[in-house]
Amino acid sequence: MLRPMTQGDLPSVAKLFCERLPASPLSQMGAAFVHDFLAGFIACPLGLADVEHDGQRVLGFAIASTDSAASFAWLRANRWAELEKHRAAAVTDRARGFWQLLESGAHYHPQQLPEVAAELLFVAVHWDKEGTRLAAGLVRRMLVELRDAGVVQVKVFIGLHNSPPQNMLWALGFERREAFVQDGRELVGYVYYNLAQAPFLA
Ligand SMILES: CC(C)(COP(=O)(O)OP(=O)(O)OC[C@H]1O[C@@H](n2cnc3c(N)ncnc32)[C@H](O)[C@@H]1OP(=O)(O)O)[C@@H](O)C(=O)NCCC(=O)NCCS
Repeated sequence: MLRPMTQGDLPSVAKLFCERLPASPLSQMGAAFVHDFLAGFIACPLGLADVEHDGQRVLGFAIASTDSAASFAWLRANRWAELEKHRAAAVTDRARGFWQLLESGAHYHPQQLPEVAAELLFVAVHWDKEGTRLAAGLVRRMLVELRDAGVVQVKVFIGLHNSPPQNMLWALGFERREAFVQDGRELVGYVYYNLAQAPFLA
């Protein structure tokens, strides 16, 4: 069942997040941080989060924001007490880079595609659900929710050598943008330019 993420899903989502996105600075802060970060994120009025759940476990999730820079600033302004207690977990370079930006209230990729506010931030499925189009279903649902919230363009940043999500985004109609390096990590941007006219969202 594809449905909005709830507080009760967060322990499973945080575990899956760290397993499937180990290179993410959030994972490098640890599952407890991911849990509290996502708790703040689903409380944020700009945040959108869905899970695919089979009644027993979370099979996958998608997390987006109608304005990712503003949602990071919202977390800084409204959830700092919960997030600040994880400060000592920022030990890797990548986690430290992320932490400094969070502390300043800035978004993680402030210079990249600033003209596109909405962002599909994270999508992941269990290993045993890869290649089943469950992920594409989660992303399509998220794109519908973004469109219904008035979003026309949405960006995504992916590890440059991480092909499965790039294949999926390309199949869904996203366009590839320039690659860049942040905190020693090579990333590439993708943009969906006209959600209002997306054929698969009709
Ligand atoms: C990224 C991730 C969610 C993609 O999952 P996936 O299971 O490969 O995705 P899906 O099966 O839903 O879709 C991808 C495949 O279906 C195809 N596809 C999906 N929707 C399609 C559509 N509407 N029409 C045609 N093809 C489609 C894609 O081209 C791709 O097929 P191919 O690789 O065989 O060419 C998964 O690999 C994952 O969890 N990775 C770890 C987390 C991660 O790296 N996330 C991205 C950064 S946030």
